[in-house]
Amino acid sequence: MTSARGTLHVLNGPNLNLLGEREPHIYGADTLGDVEELARRTGGELEFDVECFQSNHEGALVDEIQRIRRTSVGVVINAGAYTHTSVAIRDALANLEAPFVEVHISNVHAREPFRHHSYLSDKAAAVIVGCGVQGYEFAVRRLDALVPGGEIAV
Ligand code: DQA
Repeated sequence: MTSARGTLHVLNGPNLNLLGEREPHIYGADTLGDVEELARRTGGELEFDVECFQSNHEGALVDEIQRIRRTSVGVVINAGAYTHTSVAIRDALANLEAPFVEVHISNVHAREPFRHHSYLSDKAAAVIVGCGVQGYEFAVRRLDALVPGGEIAV
């Protein structure tokens, strides 16, 4: 059965498959499975279906964004290191009909200078950084406000 408000997509880029093992002092102990479960649970409460996708490959992320460009009602994306390098992911996101929220688990602005620039942020409906994995929940709740049928006024 599909949910009343359509499907949100949660996209994760390179190395995020290693969440929980990868630099836990920066990214915490939760796994990608935990993050996806949090997004599904939050989306479910708000009457969305949630589909999750992770890839370590730039082109695979571009393919997935193209695939969902007309059907998604909202996208949460943590493009990992591609955030700071990828014009291709930026261009793919520019063709989405739905709004997207950019998430970073860590506070990228408190880290190395090369993490301070994002190719995505000026196209994003919102940017959430430094909230840990809870940022994914906040992103889903923000999309609730942006997608018709939400309870919170924008
Ligand atoms: C990250 C921050 C990026 O700079 C880094 O390359 C990542 C994860 C974050 O969630 O904090 O892979 O996007």
